[in-house]
Amino acid sequence: MSHVMSTYARQPLAFTRGEGVFLIDADGKRYLDALAGVAVISVGHCHPKLAKAISDQAHSLIHTSNIFHITLQEKLADRLCALSGMDNAFFCNSGCEANEAAIKLARLYGHKKGIDVPTIIVTEGSFHGRTMATLTATGSRKVQAGFEPLLAGFARVPYDDVEAVRHVAANNKNVVAMLVEPITGEGGIHIPAENYLRELRAICDQNGWLLMLDEVQTGIGRTGKWFGHQHSGILPDVMPLAKGLGGGMPIGACLAAGPAAKLFEPGKHGSTFGGNPLACAAALAVLDIIEEERLIENAASAGAYLVGRLHDELSSLQGFVQIRAKGLMIGIELDRNCGELVGQALERGLIINVTADNVVRLVPPLSFGVEHADLLLSTLVPLIRGFLAGTPARSAA
Ligand SMILES: Cc1ncc(COP(=O)(O)O)c(C=O)c1O
Repeated sequence: MSHVMSTYARQPLAFTRGEGVFLIDADGKRYLDALAGVAVISVGHCHPKLAKAISDQAHSLIHTSNIFHITLQEKLADRLCALSGMDNAFFCNSGCEANEAAIKLARLYGHKKGIDVPTIIVTEGSFHGRTMATLTATGSRKVQAGFEPLLAGFARVPYDDVEAVRHVAANNKNVVAMLVEPITGEGGIHIPAENYLRELRAICDQNGWLLMLDEVQTGIGRTGKWFGHQHSGILPDVMPLAKGLGGGMPIGACLAAGPAAKLFEPGKHGSTFGGNPLACAAALAVLDIIEEERLIENAASAGAYLVGRLHDELSSLQGFVQIRAKGLMIGIELDRNCGELVGQALERGLIINVTADNVVRLVPPLSFGVEHADLLLSTLVPLIRGFLAGTPARSAA
């Protein structure tokens, strides 16, 4: 019996090594990793340049404290602001912490405007994390159940519904911000209408609200641009990041622009570990690798290839609903719960994930090439075919 708390229904498997887009278990069996630690392993497992950056940094300085200047943190903030057009960054260790920072910024912003109960609009089907504030913001009863009382100060609207946001704007004078994912991740890879973010930007501007885009999953190249909102040509006021930023090292960031960038002052927020030299060295190496190896372009092209082939192979099948994808953030919706595909794929050496019960999610490393896509297809397509036909699937491998 393990002494680890049972917060996850774990697969009966542990890996001992990682190599690019592959994970290897204790018996030496190789698995093609189309999950990437849930969209974390941006540059591939154990990329030599990332491993070297972490190792070199570990030999010179691991941690000091945010009581002092941290040169690498300042460098990372500069890089992220240059890539995004944002003004500054707060560093933490995870996605929920990055969202916590965003929520605190929104509340400070509201109080500064004289609003006593600042309210943040959030959406149905969203996922923002597991802390009390972020699970309150999350649009899933499953995530919230048992943790009541939830926090005050959130108003919920359907995702991809601009009219609902306008309705809240007309009726709730306490709103100070909207927190929304550019594409839902855990909620099932839902891609909003082309104009959604632009319209939200306009509503936020008209009402003096902060537009806060949770780019924890969509950020750092995942969708074929540095940040998911860059497909829409707008800028957020606040942008939480994590996952792919550290390539597997725990690091989160909350970027802010304009008035939101000036709200935190000493004593208002903090983190013991946030942005320490080791984590920042890793994140800087990740950004270098993404640029040097043109991984964002690769995410766009490999994603388009994979999605094209998936369409060809799956779209005529009874039980196939839809593929929703941007870059290497891909959801294959089936008409029935398909969690069992995860274990079947593992047996065949493929790591996938199912989210929202009936959506196969593929979020492989951004270094996933066409040859890896072909390997994935050779396992996944027969598996889904067999599953939808109600017969045990054969592997084509
Ligand atoms: C969009 C989004 N926000 C926040 C989080 C929470 O991140 P973390 O698990 O690092 O706290 C996740 C995690 O899946 C996410 O997908």
